[in-house]
Amino acid sequence: MRFSALNVAGAAALAFSGLSSAANATEWKSRSIYQVMIDRFARTDGSTSAECKLYEFCNGTWTGLINHLDYIQDMGFTAIQISPVVENMKDDTAVGWPYHGYWSQNLYATNPRFGTEDDLKNLAAELKKRDMLLMVDVVVNHMAQAFTNPVPPKVDYSKFNPFDDKKYFHPYCNVTMWENSTDYQQCWLYPYGVALADLKTESPDVSEMFGSWIKELVSNYSIDGLRIDAAKHVNDAFLPAFVEASGVFAFGEVLTGVQNDMCRYQNKGLLPGMPNYLEFYPLNAAFNGGSFVSLADMRSQAATGCNDTFALGTFVENHDMPRFASQNQDLALAKNAMTYVILNDGIPTVYQGQEQHFNGSITPANREPLWLSGYDTKAPLYVLTQTLNKIRNNAIKKDDSYLETAATTLWADTNHLCLRKGPDGTQVVFCINNKSSKGDSYQVSIGGFSPSDQVVEVVSCATSTADATGNVTMYFGAGEPKVYVTAATLRDTGLCPKTTADGPKTAANNSGAASLGAFGSVLLLAMMGWATLLL
Ligand SMILES: *[C@@H]1O[C@H](CO)[C@@H](O)[C@H](O)[C@H]1NC(C)=O
Ligand SMILES: *[C@@H]1O[C@H](CO)[C@@H](O)[C@H](O)[C@H]1NC(C)=O
Ligand SMILES: *[C@@H]1O[C@H](CO)[C@@H](O)[C@H](O)[C@H]1NC(C)=O
Ligand SMILES: *[C@@H]1O[C@H](CO)[C@@H](O)[C@H](O)[C@H]1NC(C)=O
Ligand SMILES: *[C@@H]1O[C@H](CO)[C@@H](O)[C@H](O)[C@H]1NC(C)=O
Ligand SMILES: *[C@@H]1O[C@H](CO)[C@@H](O)[C@H](O)[C@H]1NC(C)=O
Ligand SMILES: *[C@@H]1O[C@H](CO)[C@@H](O)[C@H](O)[C@H]1NC(C)=O
Ligand SMILES: *[C@@H]1O[C@H](CO)[C@@H](O)[C@H](O)[C@H]1NC(C)=O
Repeated sequence: MRFSALNVAGAAALAFSGLSSAANATEWKSRSIYQVMIDRFARTDGSTSAECKLYEFCNGTWTGLINHLDYIQDMGFTAIQISPVVENMKDDTAVGWPYHGYWSQNLYATNPRFGTEDDLKNLAAELKKRDMLLMVDVVVNHMAQAFTNPVPPKVDYSKFNPFDDKKYFHPYCNVTMWENSTDYQQCWLYPYGVALADLKTESPDVSEMFGSWIKELVSNYSIDGLRIDAAKHVNDAFLPAFVEASGVFAFGEVLTGVQNDMCRYQNKGLLPGMPNYLEFYPLNAAFNGGSFVSLADMRSQAATGCNDTFALGTFVENHDMPRFASQNQDLALAKNAMTYVILNDGIPTVYQGQEQHFNGSITPANREPLWLSGYDTKAPLYVLTQTLNKIRNNAIKKDDSYLETAATTLWADTNHLCLRKGPDGTQVVFCINNKSSKGDSYQVSIGGFSPSDQVVEVVSCATSTADATGNVTMYFGAGEPKVYVTAATLRDTGLCPKTTADGPKTAANNSGAASLGAFGSVLLLAMMGWATLLL
């Protein structure tokens, strides 16, 4: 059993604000989430040999996950988000099997493909022992049934539980107007191979049935938070009632890159939090021919537009989007993206496989079984994530005002974004760049500290001293991200037991054993990256 440093802050937050959903939001803001696709994370027997097709079942289970929680916790994550847990339809379809869990048939039974009710309860109990939180994905927009074309789908409503009658559903129409909310909220999504029978969530019956269901589900399985699938596709008024009934924090999936479309969900009190799709697009673009100036601009749009950016989930990968490495295989770029995800304002959310530099593109290619990596805890992105989570968890433990101290921009240009997050003393100063591992060597003076602070760059474990203005000279090279904390802050983390003095990363410097540190480890990490790719 392990005790997380976050125990105390979490308990204090609860004590001060009672058991309101606000308290839950506070608790969640301090967490770092690892997203698990149950069918693809680990099998009960731990076997990795039986190959599976990506649109079929790969047979991962809740018990498999329990057996591999160390892998997640050792990376510094303090919460997990898992696939939907309810029983799905049973059939194969033109778009594959329901291995992902999103095709609900019976809300009052757990998904037997993932294990038993007790297995799920055991998972919750095991997480509790580790002081980790459990977020469960839930589908409220529709129930699912296989059908063979053509439309309209013939649906046997009596198969659904509890929505066992046509009266609970919108009449069939295909979503065609993606800018017209009536259309995308009342018509049916993607009628091909599977009918996503669209629930009439605006009807009081449906809303009440969902309310009593979610209250029971949360209580039966000790759930700490929800991810609400396709939240944008149900009517507005349903959402706050559902979240209220659940009694826990929720991320609602609102797939839009437009400030007002996203922020209105928070500002009107419809949802406490959302995955941060606003920054997702410019974040990706900055590493793919775009500029960090656009990301900086979107950051300020989010900060001025949304009531609570600290309750948004920063991510660069999820199970719906092409993986980062499917666009560019360069490891240094992936490191910079991971750095932003963990250290940005808001709740870090990492999708399984991102830490192994998986490179699947569109669904289902982006849903590779994690066991193909051998759960490699030496993989460069695994190690980096571990370091970054430690830095963040430690900063929160030392001073939880870290969480709601908005990161300020120190420098933004086409190739760089440098931010400073946290209060004086426990601040983290970090720079991401898009130079790639072929990036040149250069130095830049960046602020964010107090005069003469002793600081450590934690990716390379290099020490330096802030100048009389509180600036630090950053020695960029090979496109590596730069993450600085004060030496005093670092002390409790166990990170960087050995450090070297920072300095220019030039070839000449590498002859000296002392300066091999930073640059040598970059090379080594790059080589390990190749080894992983070749396996
Ligand atoms: C998954 O489990 C099913 C049912 O037990 C079995 O038929 C199938 O072969 C398994 N698939 C893999 C890839 O192990
Ligand atoms: C449904 O609408 C989408 C566009 O939103 C279109 O691509 C698709 O072909 C339509 N499907 C059917 C069965 O009408
Ligand atoms: C919006 O969609 C609804 C439902 O499909 C339709 O009845 C309505 O005419 C559409 N509105 C506009 C302005 O197109
Ligand atoms: C919760 O557990 C009770 C008691 O076992 C059961 O009757 C109820 O159906 C369960 N509800 C859900 C949503 O799982
Ligand atoms: C969001 O902020 C605005 C402006 O401060 C305020 O009027 C509104 O009540 C807030 N909404 C919520 C849900 O907190
Ligand atoms: C980094 O940004 C520059 C400027 O926008 C762009 O030209 C370059 O292609 C970007 N690098 C990568 C790897 O995307
Ligand atoms: C200190 O860093 C800031 C960026 O944070 C930069 O604008 C400024 O020029 C630096 N000062 C010096 C003396 O280099
Ligand atoms: C993706 O990763 C696999 C496994 O490491 C590798 O064999 C493949 O070449 C990569 N794909 C691309 C497009 O680089």
